[in-house]
Amino acid sequence: MAFENVLIEKRGRIAIVTVNRPDKLNALNIATRKEILIAFEQLKHDDEVRVVIITGAGEKSFIAGADISEFAGMTALKQREVMKGGRAFDSVEDFPKPVIAMINGFALGGGCELAMSCDIRIASTKAKLGQPEIKLGIIPGGGGTQRMTRLIGEGKAMELILTGDMITAEEAKQLGLVNQVFAPEELEAKTMELANRIADLSPVALAMAKASVKNASRMNLREGLDAEIDLFALCFSSEDKEEGVRAFIEKRKAEFKGK
Ligand code: COA
Repeated sequence: MAFENVLIEKRGRIAIVTVNRPDKLNALNIATRKEILIAFEQLKHDDEVRVVIITGAGEKSFIAGADISEFAGMTALKQREVMKGGRAFDSVEDFPKPVIAMINGFALGGGCELAMSCDIRIASTKAKLGQPEIKLGIIPGGGGTQRMTRLIGEGKAMELILTGDMITAEEAKQLGLVNQVFAPEELEAKTMELANRIADLSPVALAMAKASVKNASRMNLREGLDAEIDLFALCFSSEDKEEGVRAFIEKRKAEFKGK
């Protein structure tokens, strides 16, 4: 399918999904959310792709939030349908391969929420993050109150969500909201380097590891520990586990096939 608002580029085993509405600071309108959903569905089934990076087009913005122009005159029922129908952020979170947010600029509202749905967040020193919805008389609706609270704790999430304040990438790093911060000119190379390192690993084990870490915020401790043992044991059914163990014993680099 041809996309209007999203670009997909493949570089070896890495797919880069770029939200491409730079004139609107890559704000997520309904059409773009749908395209993200479809893009991730396609990439899920593409065996060449082992890691996905998501970013925003242009110098200035990752994603500046939901497209506010679509809120004017929007009814509650229609907005609920939009949010519940195409859950693009949930599909990123549930995606079976690692997803890295490359935050090149503003990550506000839905942009911050999308970044938080990813597994790892790498930001440029120019990035600004926040949940400014409160200033529009609304609240985060794409997981902001839930994922941010789980990621950085209730006190800090409450402060950001109740004030709508933007924070710098460095502040976000101190809060644990982003993993690493690089100069804008280094951002892509550093993110690709990380993505390639992860892409060398077993896709089977990566999927199990991701699912198990996610379980920590979806299950109680006993359920999570039990599920972890099952996922750990399931890795023993893969050829990758044999390859990984053999490669260690034979003192060579493992060649994981994702089987
Ligand atoms: N929805 C729709 N359009 C948006 C947008 C959004 N979330 N964010 C930016 N834009 C548009 C602007 O309307 C403007 O369009 P125009 O040139 O047709 O007027 C263009 O993107 C550039 O934005 P602008 O505001 O001129 O840039 P700036 O550098 O002065 O300010 C921001 C940047 C991010 C601080 C400001 O755009 C902003 O506050 N955006 C909204 C953020 C937000 O509240 N997000 C949560 C939504 S729920």
